[in-house]
Amino acid sequence: MDKFLITGPCKVKGQVSISGSKNAALPILASTLLFDKPVVIENLPRVRDIDTMLNLLKSLGSKIKFSKNKKTVKIYKTKKQNYFASYSLVKTMRAGILVLGPLISKYHKSITSLPGGCLIGARPVNYHLSALKKLGMKYEIKKGYIHATSKGKLKGTKIKFSKISVGATENSIIAATLAQGKTTLKNCAIEPEIKDLTNFLKSAGANIKWIGKRTCQIIGVNSLNPTTYSVMGDRIETGTFCVAAALTKGDLTIKNFNPKLIQTELNLLKRSGAKIKTNKNEIKIKGPQKIKSINSIFTKEYPNFPTDLQAQFMVLMCKANGRSSITESIFENRFMHVAELRRLGAKIVIKDNKATMEGNTEFTGAELMSSDLRASVALVLAAIISKGQSVINRIYHLDRGYEKIENKLKKIGVRIKRLS
Ligand code: UD1
Repeated sequence: MDKFLITGPCKVKGQVSISGSKNAALPILASTLLFDKPVVIENLPRVRDIDTMLNLLKSLGSKIKFSKNKKTVKIYKTKKQNYFASYSLVKTMRAGILVLGPLISKYHKSITSLPGGCLIGARPVNYHLSALKKLGMKYEIKKGYIHATSKGKLKGTKIKFSKISVGATENSIIAATLAQGKTTLKNCAIEPEIKDLTNFLKSAGANIKWIGKRTCQIIGVNSLNPTTYSVMGDRIETGTFCVAAALTKGDLTIKNFNPKLIQTELNLLKRSGAKIKTNKNEIKIKGPQKIKSINSIFTKEYPNFPTDLQAQFMVLMCKANGRSSITESIFENRFMHVAELRRLGAKIVIKDNKATMEGNTEFTGAELMSSDLRASVALVLAAIISKGQSVINRIYHLDRGYEKIENKLKKIGVRIKRLS
């Protein structure tokens, strides 16, 4: 199992280019199951979750042709269409559930594994299932699999999600694209990755309109046209590099990301003392001499502060000049990085879903264990500002979602080595 060896403290300086968004690419790739004609997807990040989704599509009968740099794929439908999404593929990546909507919409049958829980919480799929049921899907759960069918085409209807869910919104939009008539989805998640999905589908002729802040209207079409689409930049990777600059009195130019999409995060970084300038697809950020504490950060659905940056901001607040707090309101168990940060010297108290950081921490390197994707990158950030050597084990979690992070970090001055 690969590990990272990081020798700190380091200061980040220079330029970094943001990769394509994993969370935008996954639903876009799943939705290619709706097509009869070839689709070309550009700017894919080369990360493990994308390989898993492409393997899932292959297992369902799609043919995948990569460009030389593997960032562009052409996806064709073959005659060997399958409807079985296996546990072995879905268990490693919850987004595997996103093939259910397109399979039922296009082929009216599917056997899809339930994703199961993961370390950050139970993460059920009840909102996905109840929305697809309202569109006409019938299903039974047997031995961990969703056995689903529909009598011909799904039928457009009105659905109001009882809770905002990124995945359930995506599955429903994809399914409604080829349904009969009009679907109105209310209380949708409106993360930029969802807008990227609807832009992709619209580029292929789908009839989708956002008609209110959280309301999406889809009028079903019979088929989609061939299209070429470039995936948006990764919002969470951008936020992670911004934190790296803010933490290390760094000076970074971050390229290939639209700063308008992370206003909440940039405003918090400004409050912490960072100096930020933005251009069309660029962020210039300089870290402060002394980081200011921020009280009451809450994770919440977009456009609020994202849960996927909670762990990274916690590291920043450990170095601030006073007490700060972060409340996690999306997932019930997303503080696994806290025990590891404490091993580096952090003073963090957890009460229910609120973490309080004392601030002014002097981190000292140690051996650490990754527990999930975003927690792992928080440990990398903490190791960068720790005195001495840190070893981060189980970085396969990190490889799920960050493209060549060690190469990017090396280029901006971090002493990091991958040990295989
Ligand atoms: C997506 C992101 C993930 C991010 C999360 C929240 C992808 C591939 N993953 O995950 O990185 O952390 O959004 O921004 O895009 N829930 C239910 N029942 C359901 C669906 C969700 O109870 O049917 C709960 C979840 O357990 C969680 C909350 O709703 O507590 C939000 O989950 P959701 O927005 O669906 O997250 P994902 O789509 O799984």
